[in-house]
Amino acid sequence: MKNLIAASVLSADFSRLGEEIAALGAADLLHLDLMDGHYVPNLSFGYPIIECIARLTDKPLDAHLMVTNPDFYIEGLAELGVKYFSFHQETVYHPHRVIQKLKTLGVKAGLALNPGTPLSSIMALLGDLDYVLLMSVNPGFSYQSFIPSILDKIRQLSDLRAKHNPELLIQVDGGITDKNAAEVRAAGANILVSASYIFSSKNYTKAINTLKGL
Ligand code: DX5
Ligand code: ZN
Repeated sequence: MKNLIAASVLSADFSRLGEEIAALGAADLLHLDLMDGHYVPNLSFGYPIIECIARLTDKPLDAHLMVTNPDFYIEGLAELGVKYFSFHQETVYHPHRVIQKLKTLGVKAGLALNPGTPLSSIMALLGDLDYVLLMSVNPGFSYQSFIPSILDKIRQLSDLRAKHNPELLIQVDGGITDKNAAEVRAAGANILVSASYIFSSKNYTKAINTLKGL
């Protein structure tokens, strides 16, 4: 089973972006939290910054679209080299169509679920997805605490995966630390997203390896 770490650059020091990205050598993916101030009460970054990040790394870029109109950004981000895309189902009328568009572009299609959104809402799409992002905090900010009930949701999704789509990856995003990473992995998660745990540590490589259980 895949055990990957996606470092969320949301907590990076953007005045030293080059150094920050260079220090993430142990990460498997770079997670880009796009926020538009509508779907979530925060703004993050857009094309100019992502273009810089793409030039600074060879790692797969993983866009988490916390925006009301994810469809607007898919082609532009794919052109910048983004390989993983997750969007929140409630932000689009036709999630299946968005997934088809992502497949046509040859990128990975993910659906993101807020802590309060049940797994039943994505049953019809499970077989079409490359990954599901389970939010373990409410979207919008880093430095929040992991919501413990999400562990059960990960286990339930892991059971559904066995029946409906064994290739599905489970990404868990929010409040991941050395205290909960092992439990989150044991519950069935394959990609742990982390911002504050990595960026508030002195040694990013060590922090990432700790989250991987190395
Ligand atoms: C929250 C974002 C997360 C966030 C994680 O809306 O989707 O990716 O950056 O931050 P930490 O790891 O600090 O909870
Ligand atoms: Zn995220």
